[in-house]
Amino acid sequence: MILTLVVLALSSSSFLAVNSQGIVCNVTSPCPESTPCCSEYGFCGTGNFCLGGCNPLYSNSLDSCLPNPVCEDATHTFADDSRILTNASYFDGNASEYDWVVDKGSIINTNSSGGELGLILTETNGGTRLSSTRYVHYGIISAKLKTGRWPGVVTAFITMSNIKDEIDWEFPGANTTTGQTNYYWQGVIPNATHGETETGVSDTFSNYHEYTIDWQPDALTFSIDSNVVRTIKQSDAVNPTTGVNEYPNTPSRIQLSLWPAGINTSAPGTIQWSGGMINWQDSDYVSAGHFYALVQSVTVKCADPQSPGANITSYVYGSNQTTDTPTVAFSNQTTINGAGHLFELPWSMLGGLGSQVMSWMIPALLGLVVVHL
Ligand SMILES: *[C@@H]1O[C@H](CO)[C@@H](O)[C@H](O)[C@H]1NC(C)=O
Ligand SMILES: *[C@@H]1O[C@H](CO)[C@@H](O)[C@H](O)[C@H]1NC(C)=O
Ligand SMILES: *[C@@H]1O[C@H](CO)[C@@H](O)[C@H](O)[C@H]1NC(C)=O
Ligand SMILES: *[C@@H]1O[C@H](CO)[C@@H](O)[C@H](O)[C@H]1NC(C)=O
Ligand SMILES: *[C@@H]1O[C@H](CO)[C@@H](O)[C@H](O)[C@H]1NC(C)=O
Ligand SMILES: *[C@@H]1O[C@H](CO)[C@@H](O)[C@H](O)[C@H]1NC(C)=O
Ligand SMILES: *[C@@H]1O[C@H](CO)[C@@H](O)[C@H](O)[C@H]1NC(C)=O
Ligand SMILES: *[C@@H]1O[C@H](CO)[C@@H](O)[C@H](O)[C@H]1NC(C)=O
Ligand SMILES: *[C@@H]1O[C@H](CO)[C@@H](O)[C@H](O)[C@H]1NC(C)=O
Ligand SMILES: *[C@@H]1O[C@H](CO)[C@@H](O)[C@H](O)[C@H]1NC(C)=O
Repeated sequence: MILTLVVLALSSSSFLAVNSQGIVCNVTSPCPESTPCCSEYGFCGTGNFCLGGCNPLYSNSLDSCLPNPVCEDATHTFADDSRILTNASYFDGNASEYDWVVDKGSIINTNSSGGELGLILTETNGGTRLSSTRYVHYGIISAKLKTGRWPGVVTAFITMSNIKDEIDWEFPGANTTTGQTNYYWQGVIPNATHGETETGVSDTFSNYHEYTIDWQPDALTFSIDSNVVRTIKQSDAVNPTTGVNEYPNTPSRIQLSLWPAGINTSAPGTIQWSGGMINWQDSDYVSAGHFYALVQSVTVKCADPQSPGANITSYVYGSNQTTDTPTVAFSNQTTINGAGHLFELPWSMLGGLGSQVMSWMIPALLGLVVVHL
């Protein structure tokens, strides 16, 4: 069963303002001209609504969302948190200023091993998710990380586009010798899942491994410590029922998260998949005061044929389509939200942090919204 309960935490007055605008956007109801941008969370607005995650297909027009900051080759390390904006509400779209924004939750820096980014999950914070400020439109993305090791707690390293093309590495914490790979196209929940479990990894909690998503126009390859574990050919991604090629093909942000799947608002299948309900009495949790996952580095090698520069600052969506897929073009338009609006995005309406649960929840997002005070 698809989740039908979407919990909105009414935590701030600015959020109330957003909510009182009350306009839900979806495939059949794009946003009006006055509030043209359909946020990641499925509500119409201006300002921050037009930044990361803004869905051009559900917005007033294809160019309502701000252009997506173009890919730049990078090695992100975490000696300190200076390149991370810890409150996404303050992001203005300037990808030169920050490499990451914390969409939800909290981070720590362990200050050991050269600096490690800690993603924190507590019973009350609902987990942590960071998004890259830049997008990748094909490229090689690797994350060196240590996962959680607790049933119901999922560590994730994914790519997510504004129209919800998604490529996943996910680690349900009940099993620390496996990692799961998956992909989605435009948020479509395939009835034959594209998920696969990669086995034989040595203790993902105790050891750093480098997990790679090598996403090219013709093939998607997943690797662990440079060993290829799975390859999907673009030409094999045709949905046999519809004939549509469901290969992820739009610019995507990199997302790192630690999220609670084993909680009672999750769908039964999600809870089971994640290894069961989270035990908040776990001795690791009790002694540290939180669950955590650690990230040592993220590297990005863009596949773009052209380098970023004054004439290439962003990606924009174009209207020409081949089998339901918008075109993507380079542009020199700014990615910065000049209006400088400050909105608290209704992030907390999502029970999960990207990936699996987010995809599963899209129908719920488009349909029934239950407001919890
Ligand atoms: C982010 O900033 C907004 C605006 O000041 C505030 O309402 C919100 O509580 C902040 N979020 C966090 C997680 O601190
Ligand atoms: C974006 O951030 C960079 C680095 O902090 C800064 O030099 C630049 O002026 C900013 N651009 C705008 C338009 O604010
Ligand atoms: C890491 O060091 C910074 C200063 O370099 C300090 O502000 C921070 O509290 C330290 N973090 C931890 C977890 O010790
Ligand atoms: C983890 O998954 C592998 C592969 O499915 C399985 O062989 C192993 O027994 C599992 N370990 C635990 C602790 O469940
Ligand atoms: C998959 O979807 C197609 C089209 O909606 C449907 O005909 C088919 O029964 C579905 N298969 C399964 C296993 O759910
Ligand atoms: C869900 O769990 C929370 C505590 O984590 C509890 O307060 C709440 O009553 C539970 N709800 C249901 C429907 O079981
Ligand atoms: C940038 O575009 C302008 C035309 O708009 C052109 O004259 C210039 O040569 C381009 N610069 C680069 C570095 O490509
Ligand atoms: C759309 O297709 C037409 C005709 O092929 C072409 O002239 C136009 O440049 C295309 N526009 C975009 C945005 O790709
Ligand atoms: C973008 O490029 C066009 C020509 O392609 C040029 O007219 C325009 O001034 C450029 N805009 C910026 C912000 O560089
Ligand atoms: C889209 O939103 C409209 C307006 O809120 C709603 O009536 C409609 O049922 C939604 N459609 C879908 C497919 O969720």
